[in-house]
Amino acid sequence: MDGAAELWRAVDDVCERMAGALPRGVEVAARRCAELGLPEINVTPSMGRLLEILARLTGAARVLEIGTLGGYSTAWLAEGLAPGGRVVTVEVDPARAASAEETFRLGGIGGRVSVRCGRGLEVIGALESEGAGPFDLVFIDADKENSGAYFQRALGLTRPGGVIIVDNVVRGGAIADTAGHDPRVRGSLDAIERMGASAGVLASVLQTVGSKGYDGFAIAWVGGPAR
Ligand code: DHB
Ligand code: MG
Repeated sequence: MDGAAELWRAVDDVCERMAGALPRGVEVAARRCAELGLPEINVTPSMGRLLEILARLTGAARVLEIGTLGGYSTAWLAEGLAPGGRVVTVEVDPARAASAEETFRLGGIGGRVSVRCGRGLEVIGALESEGAGPFDLVFIDADKENSGAYFQRALGLTRPGGVIIVDNVVRGGAIADTAGHDPRVRGSLDAIERMGASAGVLASVLQTVGSKGYDGFAIAWVGGPAR
């Protein structure tokens, strides 16, 4: 790790200590992710809190997450829900989906989260045919190749005034090479381009540094009909 990355981690550590206790559901999810030996690719506590804040700002009662893994970001989103609200989280791996359900139960948030197991685009199709939307907030954090496709489908499931967030769009700065062929980078660029090209959508890319290195959130505000 180079000096800059060590400093980013140290700053995250200091800020996390100062930022107060974690919610119980989040703490339990962090512990379970470690116990289950899941890849250490969760959002950081600081970025998790940002997800909670965005959920609170949108008054979110219906949240959709693509990519559950161990349910760490799910727990933050659940923390930001309006009373009676629910997070629908989509996980492709059946064993991970079952473990995440147990994690939510142990963390006391089982009643606020529904886990759907399946490939992201297929579950989105099922949600569309069930009339499950509209959602107030969508967090896309799954197979990066499909980030643009997920954004496009999420747009049709998001209410006017809602927010769509795409994780890992910067990836160490790799997106600066817009001609690159890495499918994960192409997926990130696709998501950002689609945000910019969507009528009524305001897009912002928040570059982040911290304990996960140099990455970022793309955040889209989904506008309402013209006034
Ligand atoms: C990876 C995936 C993520 O969602 C993330 O936040 C960081 C890394 C990965 O697959 O490497
Ligand atoms: Mg991610």
